[in-house]
Amino acid sequence: MTFEEIKQKEHLYYAKTFSRFDRCFVSGKGCELTDLEGRTYLDFFGGIAVNALGYADPELTGAIANQAAKLIHISNLFYSLPQTELCERLVKGSDFARVFFCNSGAEANEAAIKLCRKYFFDRGENRFRFLTADNSFHGRTLATATATGQPKYSRAFRPLPEGFTYLPYNDLTAMEEALQAPDVCAVLLETVQGEGGVLPADPAYLQKAAALCKKHGVFLILDEVQTGMGRCGTLFSYQQFGITPDVVTLAKGLAGGVPIGAMLCSKALEDTFGPGDHGSTFGGNPLACAAANVVVRRLTETDLLAHVQKAGAHLKARLKGLMDRHACLKAVRGLGLLVGAELDPSCPGREIVAAGLEHGLVLNCAGHNTLRFAPPLIVTEAQIDRMADILDQLLP
Ligand SMILES: Cc1ncc(COP(=O)(O)O)c(C=O)c1O
Repeated sequence: MTFEEIKQKEHLYYAKTFSRFDRCFVSGKGCELTDLEGRTYLDFFGGIAVNALGYADPELTGAIANQAAKLIHISNLFYSLPQTELCERLVKGSDFARVFFCNSGAEANEAAIKLCRKYFFDRGENRFRFLTADNSFHGRTLATATATGQPKYSRAFRPLPEGFTYLPYNDLTAMEEALQAPDVCAVLLETVQGEGGVLPADPAYLQKAAALCKKHGVFLILDEVQTGMGRCGTLFSYQQFGITPDVVTLAKGLAGGVPIGAMLCSKALEDTFGPGDHGSTFGGNPLACAAANVVVRRLTETDLLAHVQKAGAHLKARLKGLMDRHACLKAVRGLGLLVGAELDPSCPGREIVAAGLEHGLVLNCAGHNTLRFAPPLIVTEAQIDRMADILDQLLP
């Protein structure tokens, strides 16, 4: 099929949920993608911060092929070696006691929401409310779209689940006041609002929020769907904020592109879910876990995290350098290899992204007209330099 034929058929048959860019990628190697017409691109998007090890990583593709040849799926009614290995790796590399696997970030957050509510239900306490942040993003299911502090994601889907209150991000006074309500069960936050425009939390805010949660006996859930799994230069980004949440959610990079989500909880919550309380047919199946074991191994047993820190610093420095030459670049911010460059409203990010494709560069624009850079974690400094040189030509 030619690109035009694919496009026509997509317009005929696919749900009208995405406004796609005019490219169809067919393969990749490292940080480079190839489209249907054979043109190559430097990838600073990573399939929305997913493709942690880049494309065609031999260890990852080998593990997937190997597992696929043995057993793709068996359900969670049986024990599984790849899943057990992954649980152990995640628990031993973190501050958590238990792991639950699902298939996406939204599902991981759903699991966290259900877990925290059930904890208080079991104790006969009427605590069900979640405090979340304005401008946050937690997913597209009804509960997670409601948890998301951006009404555009939920307003058409009423009635929405009750028990969600939105607070200004980084506003401790608002948090302190809201925690006085007797029905709060948890605070749900991102360490860096990725979809919201790569906006990092103030460390003092997260530290105080964690202390307030403890004081009021409510749980702190960190949504690390985008920021976790090395994206920010540490296995979990909360490790850079001097806090330990009660629950953390993961997805995106965890299996390097194979769909998986995970919800990790502390010892205090480990007995909350019993058999039948929650579940998933596919969640953490042998194929996804075999892939995730490779990603977690690379993050914990090689120098990949140190590389992310170094490459992330280089990326930020190059983007900050461009600020002197392009007045439309308003701010550069982020952690590790999750970096945002905010553009002036006169310079629409979507146009820069489209122009990038013409110049062999895959970019993305997130909230607040911010270019979001989330390349594979293996990106080299030479590739960052190439990207910055292209961007230098694209920006007015
Ligand atoms: C912080 C955060 N939480 C949740 C989600 C939802 O993840 P998924 O699309 O896998 O359901 C996303 C997706 O962008 C995210 O960035």
